[in-house]
This record gives sequence, C-alpha cells and structure tokens, in this order.
Amino acid sequence: MFESLTPAPQDKIFALMAAYQADNRDGKIDLGIGVYKDDEGNTPVMTAVKKAEERLLATAKTKSYVGVAGDKTFNKLMIDLALDGAVPDDRVRGVQAPGGTGALWIILMLIQRSNPDAKIWISDPSWPNHVPMVEQVGMPSASYPYFDPETGKVRFEDMLATLDGLGKNDVVLLHGCCHNPTGANLSPEQWDRVIESLERTGAFPLIDMAYQGFGDGLEEDAYGVRALARKIPEFVVATSCSKNFGLYRDRAGCAIAVGRDAKAADLANAQMMSCVRAAYSQPPAHGAEVVREILSDDALRAEWKSELEAMRTRMVANRLALAEAIRARSNSSDFDFVSEHRGMFSLLGLPTATVDQLKDKNAIYMLDDSRINIAGLSGERIERLADAIVAATR
Ligand code: LMR
Repeated sequence: MFESLTPAPQDKIFALMAAYQADNRDGKIDLGIGVYKDDEGNTPVMTAVKKAEERLLATAKTKSYVGVAGDKTFNKLMIDLALDGAVPDDRVRGVQAPGGTGALWIILMLIQRSNPDAKIWISDPSWPNHVPMVEQVGMPSASYPYFDPETGKVRFEDMLATLDGLGKNDVVLLHGCCHNPTGANLSPEQWDRVIESLERTGAFPLIDMAYQGFGDGLEEDAYGVRALARKIPEFVVATSCSKNFGLYRDRAGCAIAVGRDAKAADLANAQMMSCVRAAYSQPPAHGAEVVREILSDDALRAEWKSELEAMRTRMVANRLALAEAIRARSNSSDFDFVSEHRGMFSLLGLPTATVDQLKDKNAIYMLDDSRINIAGLSGERIERLADAIVAATR
C-alpha cells in the first residue's frame, strides 16, 4: 500500500534542527526553531513550573480521563489571560488543546464545519505550518501582504487594502502579537484600523496567539485581541502555553470560540468537542494542570510573571545589542529594524544564498527565509553574528 505514496515534504523548521544537530563544528549557533534559550543556550524549566509540578506530584489522586474539553478551570484561566473580560463569559467557550497547534487545528475544523465555503487569509509571510494546516483541513487559503523586507516593517496600507476587499466567507488569520516569522507587529492604531475593516466587511477573525508576554508585555500583547473582542461579535483565538510557560513538549493550549450569544457559543463548543473526540478523544493533562496551578495561585503567578518578564526583556536587550553591533561594523542603519521588532523572531531580509553561506562558512543556522530566533543569541554570539552578517552583505 505505501508504495503508492509520494514523499511528504519535510517541515523546514525541523529539517534545520536536524541539520544543526548533525553539525560537529565548535561554536555553531542555532537561531532556528522557536524555543527560548538562555545565555548558555539552554531551555530551562521555569521555576514556577517546577514548583507547580512538585505540588501536583504531591497531591495527585488520579490519572483518570480529564474529559473531552479538558480542564475547565484551565480553560477559564486561559480565556481570562487572553481576553481579560473583554467579552461576557456567557459568549465565550474554551477547549483545552494539545499545544497552540492543536488549538489551531480545533479552530480550523470548527470554521470548516461552520462555513464549508470559508477561505483562510494568511499573512505573507507566516509561520510555515499555517498553510499545511489549512490544507489538511481541506480549506482554500490565500495570502494578504504583510511584510516589506526592504524596510523590515509591516506593509500596512497594502494589507488593509486587501482586507477591505474581503467578505463574509473570508477568514483572516492574524498573529495576536510577536509575528512569526517577521517580528514586525501591528501598532494599537493599526489594530484599530484592521478591526474597523473587519466590522465593515464581515470577514471573520482568527487570532493565533502563541507568544503572549514575549513582545511588549502580557497585557500589551493582548491589545489587539481585546480591542477586537469589544467590537466584533464572533471570532476565534488559538492560545499556547509552549512559549510563555516553556511547556513545549507538554502540549498545552486552548481553543477559544466567541459567539454572538450563549446559544451560538454552545453550538461552537459542542462542535469543537466533537472534533476532539473523533481525532484524539481528549487532551493530555499535565501541561494544563501546571498552568492551572500557576495561574490560580497568587504567589506562583507572580513568580511566573517575573520569570516571563525577564525572558522578554532579555530578548529586547538582544535586539538592541544586535542592531548596535551591526551598525558599529557597517556604519549603516540597514538592520536597525531588528531593535524595533518584538517577540522571538526577526526576519532579516537576507537572500537564501547568504543564509546558506552563513550556515556553511560560519555555522550559523537560521531559517531559509532568514528568520532568526532572537533568544538564541547572547553576548559573544551577537558579535559573531554581526561580523558574519556584515561580511556576507558587504
Ligand atoms: C517555530 O515557529 O519555530 C515554533 O513555533 C516551533 C514550531 O512548532 O514550528
């Protein structure tokens, strides 16, 4: 049976990770997969997570099933983290998901079941898994202009012109904050204009919120989704605990659906649960339990927030240091945009040949579109990256 298959395309993020691991050179630099790293290049377990796990270990009474929608307290806490009461509770439903990708999948299935004619509009560029996920669910996708590699900024007027031409069968996938891969984000004023456009056209918003707390702060990063929630009667949000709780392998996230009224919200909830039941029955418990423990305990929550804030400010400091190091070597402001970007990534706008050269000659690994993971940098690595970029682009 399998002989009839054609080879499946490999995800480029995981292919790059494998190439990095196979490289034996000393001092190689990994700026690939979106995983937070400290100055030593490690991805530590957050202290608040460790403490929550200790508590869970000491108090756990059962390993029985959690249920199709997962942990209800976790879902409510995740809804509040994203929306902070911007929508009345009776119109919001959350389903625990295996990571942000799992949440996105549930939401795409919900959209497909709600409107089989829906088309998903994705930013150009976007996270490399967005299009394959939409294809997997069997929906068409199209792209809207988003990033200008010449300036490192959002092509906002072009983006808006496309959104203004959409209609009721169009779904706009927006990155809630910390745009992946570019690092270029909408300002609050630009969010307001996007929301006005959605109100006018009736296009349906899907917010991918995988990096809350990695940009300008937990509350600041939620500006767009909360402003949208106050104006748009129905929308969906995929949230993730992979990055801001560092729970990557534990797969915790939440699929959030907001309906026009409680009845519509219940219908959406039942459909999300039916998708989950038919695919994997119910979510894994551990990551969501950890998050529930942290968010429902004042002391642990405060500890988590300060750890998250330290990660965020370190990434901002890395941005400033990289922009400054390149400026000092090149005597130009060509890469200053890196210091204005926010989140885990920046798209440098380098041609693929330069990206290959940095890998082959300098053992510096970034995605082929020149996306770098800002957290993968530290003092000495920043200097070496700046040296290599300036030498390669001279
Ligand atoms: C990334 O963009 O590198 C992360 O979101 C990891 C992933 O699953 O692709």
